Amino acid sequence: MYTQAMDIPSGDREASENSDAAYEAEFDAKLARGDFIEPKDWMPERYRKTLIRQISQHAHSEIVGMLPEGGWITRAPTLERKCILLAKVQDEAGHGMYLYSAAETLGVSRDDLIEALHSGKAKYSSIFNYPTKTWADIGVVGWLVDGAAIMNQIPLTRCSYGPYARAMVRVCKEESFHQRQGYDLLLTLMKGSTDQRAMVQDAVNRWWWPSLMMFGPHDSESTNSGDSMKWGIKRISNDDLRQKFVDATVPQAKLLGVTLPDPDLKWNPARGEAGHWDFGPIDWSEFWSVVNGHGECNAERLADRIKAWDDGAWVREAALAHTQKRRHRDCVAA
Ligand SMILES: [Fe+2]
Ligand SMILES: [Fe+2]
Repeated sequence: MYTQAMDIPSGDREASENSDAAYEAEFDAKLARGDFIEPKDWMPERYRKTLIRQISQHAHSEIVGMLPEGGWITRAPTLERKCILLAKVQDEAGHGMYLYSAAETLGVSRDDLIEALHSGKAKYSSIFNYPTKTWADIGVVGWLVDGAAIMNQIPLTRCSYGPYARAMVRVCKEESFHQRQGYDLLLTLMKGSTDQRAMVQDAVNRWWWPSLMMFGPHDSESTNSGDSMKWGIKRISNDDLRQKFVDATVPQAKLLGVTLPDPDLKWNPARGEAGHWDFGPIDWSEFWSVVNGHGECNAERLADRIKAWDDGAWVREAALAHTQKRRHRDCVAA
């Protein structure tokens, strides 16, 4: 296991023991220069812990996020839609893998992270505790949920921790495909029957507010944001990202021909330099209720994850046994 004590910056060992302050100054200077912090660099313990929490929650969200859509693969209406959805859900698995790997560079084991998810100790994005009731939900999840994820994740490509930032570059490219496939699916449905259009509107009504909650609590109530901003993990505040998302999404809703379920949604030319969309208050009691385990699907999602992990035990064991056999063979050959 990686420990920071083994990876001190070059130079006089005695002098280095003198002061964490010297390391901290070097760390701060790197951040100020906009350099990445890499796994073997010295870093404050709280920076490391914050990253482990954030990256592992992100990884869990990708993996749990496969579930609401995975259940629709067999029910996709055409072969083309089935292929697209299959590719999208596979991408999410890949995102989870990159992120668990990035978290491991901080000295935690994947088994411990997964155990924290399964025991309910670790959180994942609450959005995945909502049900996907109709085929239109799959389009809306791509459009709004992946759309919100892109807003959140693009600034993370400039996050100060190298492995996390680099993972995000590929993740964001794939998320953009996810968003477009969702929007494309909805455009097709909106050209269909009255019932199909009503199905899209119903899905938008159910997913709009939870999507806005994906950006997290208001800046004034976001306990971890201060440090994350200072350390260059977070570049844009929750409220600013949420506003960017609303501003980008309202014209897309118009083009689609759906109504966003907010009577207070109104263009305000006086806000900011170019104007912004004002929107109504978010029901934070719903957000906290879902975060604290009382969403419609919390229990089901966790049970499905645990079952998938248990069912996959033989694959992990077989892979391990194969690696050991190969090593043995290589040893004998040498
Ligand atoms: Fe993803
Ligand atoms: Fe995605």
